[in-house]
Amino acid sequence: MTAVPLPPQPTPEADLDGVWVLCAEDHEQAAPFAEQLRTAGALVRVTCHGEAHDWDNADTAAAWFGANDVAAGRLRGLCLLHDRRMDAEPARWPLIWQGLRRDFHLVQGFLKYADPRDGVTVVGLAGDGSVFQTLPAVAPAPLSGRFGLLRALALELPAVRVRLLDVAPTAPAAATAAWLVDAIGNEGPTEIGYRDGVAYTTAPKPMPPGPTKAYCPQPRILISGGARGITAYCATELAALPGARLVILGRTDLTDFDADDAFRHIEDPLELKRQLLARAQAAGDTATPAAIDARWRRCLKQREIHGHLAAMRRAGAAVVYHACDINDGAALNAVLDRETANGAFDYVLHGAGIVEDKLLKDKTTASFERVCRTKILGALNLLNHKATASATCVALFGSVSGRFGNRAQADYAAANDILNQLAHRANGSRAGRVCCLQWGPWQSISPVSGMVAPGLADIFRGMGVNLIDVADGAAALMTELAQTDDKAEVVLGDWLSAATETNAREVVG
Ligand SMILES: NC(=O)c1ccc[n+]([C@@H]2O[C@H](COP(=O)([O-])OP(=O)(O)OC[C@H]3O[C@@H](n4cnc5c(N)ncnc54)[C@H](OP(=O)(O)O)[C@@H]3O)[C@@H](O)[C@H]2O)c1
Repeated sequence: MTAVPLPPQPTPEADLDGVWVLCAEDHEQAAPFAEQLRTAGALVRVTCHGEAHDWDNADTAAAWFGANDVAAGRLRGLCLLHDRRMDAEPARWPLIWQGLRRDFHLVQGFLKYADPRDGVTVVGLAGDGSVFQTLPAVAPAPLSGRFGLLRALALELPAVRVRLLDVAPTAPAAATAAWLVDAIGNEGPTEIGYRDGVAYTTAPKPMPPGPTKAYCPQPRILISGGARGITAYCATELAALPGARLVILGRTDLTDFDADDAFRHIEDPLELKRQLLARAQAAGDTATPAAIDARWRRCLKQREIHGHLAAMRRAGAAVVYHACDINDGAALNAVLDRETANGAFDYVLHGAGIVEDKLLKDKTTASFERVCRTKILGALNLLNHKATASATCVALFGSVSGRFGNRAQADYAAANDILNQLAHRANGSRAGRVCCLQWGPWQSISPVSGMVAPGLADIFRGMGVNLIDVADGAAALMTELAQTDDKAEVVLGDWLSAATETNAREVVG
């Protein structure tokens, strides 16, 4: 992605008639924004972090809108002001989650009461002045997944006008307030960033792979989520590096793998399910179909893991698998302490992730948290351990969803947006490269793995998106690990944006 200066936009006088909700850190921050909105005809309601109502709770957040808009008039807009805290501290999950949760509840509450037929707008301000991570940051800002969340909203509800402003925490308040009102009124791009008084938007920039360097000799490689899904294919490619040692992390316990002799010989997954059901019925087992389905999935997962680990060993690597939840810092540290007794890791892949796709209005806080936690806390736990500190390359597996949004993936988009920020922040401040690989969708590879299930694959194909071939994806990963250009973000694959306004197409590898 690259920053593109924006020619001055015609800004027709915005029709702000109705209620606009401003969410600010405090009333002092809100004041210049409220004033400009009122001058443009808005009825402004201000809510501040940490006030009596509880933005951490979905129900009280939604109730606040009910109490504050209906009596006063039409609810027209929600403006999420930026965090002015300069974040020099190490990123911490509780703080990140607090901000994400607040944004999620505010947007969900707003959507409950706003009627898109009234021409509603959601504006999100955040950032570090890097114009959405395409330029060096002006000032450090807290990690925020707000842009990812709102990009998803824009695709999910096209009738809602979404505007994103990347502003540094140091930007003057009066100017920022004027930018906000401009953004509401103008018909320009959704994403606008300001630095040194100049407005920019972003555009994709094709980036052919540059010169590569030699891989580390006898590399020690740590891979979260590396036993299944697309990461396992990348791991198998890495396993062919001479003298490679792979340490693979996943939650699935393998200790009872194929414990049941009766089923060991059944290879066909559907036949296996039939046999599991038949045996349960014959034995008068009261297990529900859902429980049997879970047993079947677990068995397939274990088989898939064994298959991948065997393929890695056949490729020549020494492979160790640890059943370890990377969100559990203590458990992860114990594994990494043991594993690095003989040396630190040369490469780290963070592929662990989960998806629980649902429209924003239907998402629960617990599900939103699960999706974000695995990506973000998992990445922080990996990056913060000394075993990864000198790695030549740490590759965080992100998604085009974080960069461009995706329907029903507000949580996943927010999480991947943060992964990308994390990569930008860490890259250059550590011994090696830290990058976020924003993958487009890969081909479906197994009935129990891969986030692109067959139905979803058909939707992507219908949108004109070519799915990444497994061999091509794994080869692209290998190229990235040897790149000399040290870019923090790379969008990989073909993401024709039938769904995105930015019309992103960035092909690498
Ligand atoms: N597939 C795609 O098309 C695609 C596109 C864009 C980005 N990506 C990214 O690529 C990565 C892999 O995606 P995938 O489609 O291959 O997904 P997947 O098949 O669901 O695999 C996810 C892996 O993460 C592991 N995992 C999940 N939570 C974990 C935790 N708390 N601790 C340790 N391991 C955990 C899973 O193993 P256990 O279940 O055993 O824990 C599994 O090995 C993800 O980060 C995803 O965002 C994928």
